[in-house]
Amino acid sequence: MARPATTSESDVPIAVLPATQYSWQMRYDVAPSDREAVRTLVDRTGFFHGDEIDIAVELVDARLTNGVASGYEFVFADSPEALAGYACYGAIPCTAASFDLYWIAVDPHFQRQGLGRMLLEDVERQVAAKGGERIYIDTSGRDQYRRTRAFYERSGFCCEARLKDFYAPGDDRVIYVKNLVKTC
Ligand SMILES: CC(C)(COP(=O)(O)OP(=O)(O)OC[C@H]1O[C@@H](n2cnc3c(N)ncnc32)[C@H](O)[C@@H]1OP(=O)(O)O)[C@@H](O)C(=O)NCCC(=O)NCCS
Repeated sequence: MARPATTSESDVPIAVLPATQYSWQMRYDVAPSDREAVRTLVDRTGFFHGDEIDIAVELVDARLTNGVASGYEFVFADSPEALAGYACYGAIPCTAASFDLYWIAVDPHFQRQGLGRMLLEDVERQVAAKGGERIYIDTSGRDQYRRTRAFYERSGFCCEARLKDFYAPGDDRVIYVKNLVKTC
């Protein structure tokens, strides 16, 4: 686990300091500067097309404009220098207790250090506190997303459905769910 950064570490450029020497500060409020921070982070993962990156920023915009009424809740993990990771989730309209995880991403510099799991567990705690019982996640069946699917499965999510060729020929939509009140 990372230890808290000292003042002198904060002065060191991000590329110089080993990633394990960073700590993350969790944050739930959304600031205008998060538009560009989210764009940069999501782009840096190399996983998303331009139109998908635009959607990630639109969710931030919706929250900035409409507040809680937007239906989008955020968990940000700040490193001293930049946004290290974030998740966006919300209640699914017209359901009793189902939530969607719309987005989760960790900057490549901070991946495989437990931050993705920390964000997911934070989302699970907050969903449970809001009376949510199930969290759904959509992802792609493409090979590029094999590690992402492994991440969800290692985090206790179960594959509930697979919609063949949903996104494009050869690109299935894979739907994961985690039941917070009983194991699936
Ligand atoms: C998926 C993602 C959020 C995971 O974040 P992360 O901080 O790297 O994950 P963690 O370090 O918390 O890993 C938690 C578990 O997931 C699994 N996992 C994570 N990355 C993995 C990888 N590259 N290969 C295999 N397993 C992996 C591991 O089993 C790990 O458990 P362990 O530490 O007990 O082995 C991050 O890799 C990411 O941003 N990927 C690109 C964007 C993306 O795919 N977002 C989701 C879109 S649907």
